[in-house]
Amino acid sequence: MTMRKKIVAGNWKMNTLPAEGVELAKGVAAGRKDVCDCVTLIVCPPFTHLSSVIEALKGSNVEVGAQDCATETKGAYTGEVAAQMIAALGCKYVILGHSERRQYYGETSATLNKKMAEAYANNLTPIYCVGENLDEREAERHFDVVKAQIEEVVFNLTEEQFRNLVIAYEPVWAIGTGKTATAEQAQEIHAYIREVLRSKFGAAAEECPILYGGSCKPSNAGEIFAKADVDGGLIGGAALKAEDFLAIGKAF
Ligand code: PGA
Repeated sequence: MTMRKKIVAGNWKMNTLPAEGVELAKGVAAGRKDVCDCVTLIVCPPFTHLSSVIEALKGSNVEVGAQDCATETKGAYTGEVAAQMIAALGCKYVILGHSERRQYYGETSATLNKKMAEAYANNLTPIYCVGENLDEREAERHFDVVKAQIEEVVFNLTEEQFRNLVIAYEPVWAIGTGKTATAEQAQEIHAYIREVLRSKFGAAAEECPILYGGSCKPSNAGEIFAKADVDGGLIGGAALKAEDFLAIGKAF
C-alpha cells in the first residue's frame, strides 16, 4: 500500500462573480467536515477572487490554488499574474498546462517549463495537466501524446521538485462534454503515466498523485477513484456546486 495523497481539486475556470465565488467557497467549507481528512480539497477560483476566497476559507482545511501563472517573475508583462503574487496571497497550488490553455492560448512545453520554474521558486505545488484530444485517442496515439507532455516538462524537474508535483490526466474529449473516460480507460493511462514517471524518478513515482479530470461527477467519481492509480479528480463543471463537489470528495 502506498501513502499517496488523495486530492479533489475544483477548477472553477472563468466562472462565478466574486460574491458568488465566496458563497461557493463557504458552501465547500461548511460541508468539509463530512469529507475525510485524508482527502485534500482544493478550490481554484479566478484570480480576481483568490484573495476573498482565501479569506473566506481561513481555518477551514480547504486549500486554494490558482488556475495559471506567468512565465516571468515580474516586470512589463501587461495582464499577467506572477507566481509570487499568487503565493503572497496564501495560495498553495497552481494548475499549469490545462488543455484550454494549451488549445486556446498556445501554451507549449517551452512555456510550461518556465511556468513550472516560477511555481517552484515560489513554493507553489503545480497541478500539471496532460491529456490527448479526440483525434489522438482515435488514432491510438494517446499514450505517446501524454508521454511527450510529461517528458518535455516533468522530466526537467529535480527529484525534490517532482516530490511536490500533482499530475492531472484530462482527456480533452471528456472535458465539459459529459462524456467521461471509463474507469478502465482512466486506470490504463494512469498506470502508464506512473510507469513513465518511474522510468525517470524511480520509487518517487509511487508517491505522485495522479488525478483524473473530464466530466467527473458524483455519480461516476466513486468508480473512477476506486482504481489503483487514480488518486482523485480535477473537477470543472461539478465544482461549481458545493454539494456536488463535496459529494465527489466523499466518493473515495
Ligand atoms: P469538467 O472539466 O469537469 O467540466 O469536464 C474538467 C477540467 O477541465 O478540469
